[in-house]
Amino acid sequence: MNILRNFAVFEGGDGSGTSTQMELLRKRLEARSSPPFFLTSEPTDGPIGRLIRSALGGDISLRPETAARLFAADRGEHLYAAGGIAERAGRGELVVSDRYIPSSLVYQGLACGGDLPGILNGDFPAPELIVFFDLASETALERVKKRGKREIYEYPEFQARVGEGYRRILPAFEERGTLVFTVDASGSPEEVAGEVWRALSRMPILKA
Ligand code: TYD
Repeated sequence: MNILRNFAVFEGGDGSGTSTQMELLRKRLEARSSPPFFLTSEPTDGPIGRLIRSALGGDISLRPETAARLFAADRGEHLYAAGGIAERAGRGELVVSDRYIPSSLVYQGLACGGDLPGILNGDFPAPELIVFFDLASETALERVKKRGKREIYEYPEFQARVGEGYRRILPAFEERGTLVFTVDASGSPEEVAGEVWRALSRMPILKA
């Protein structure tokens, strides 16, 4: 797996606070004159991402294997379409995505198991850095409940296994050269933002 420089991802269970932290990161980056940045997320808001959202919301029903294929197809567009992750990171923008390959290895690993998630994602580049938001699933699900409607993976039995799934798959990224940081996501948004920034500061693009 190649490493895509200037590309970082946030990962964690549902309700672990990655979206909130993306917004705090946006403010921090906007207050600086450089580097240019692109903050994004998966599933994307493109056509395949929208189809995935319908399945996550329960409006359409898909086999877990089909969902795994759609997440990977959405990722391929996210990476390689014009103006996508690879192009931007390649020209020196800091790109941060809320979720990427690890989400598929963990969630689809649990939902459909077997080799399919790894096979579907095997050719995509690894990010330069992963921030894993570590939070007890009970606390995370309390947060999710406050949002209202639950998505298909937002149930205690599933989320209880997500944290352990990340702990199982993240070492392989580290072995291939991705910087992996675990942050304690139980703190206040500002505390967590501080930890996230310390992690991101390890990227050469933010040291320059
Ligand atoms: P997310 O947008 O983080 O959740 P929310 O809708 O609460 O903001 O992610 C949507 C869901 O999709 C989340 O349950 C994780 C799941 N997911 C996968 O199962 N596989 C993947 O490859 C990705 C990117 C997300």
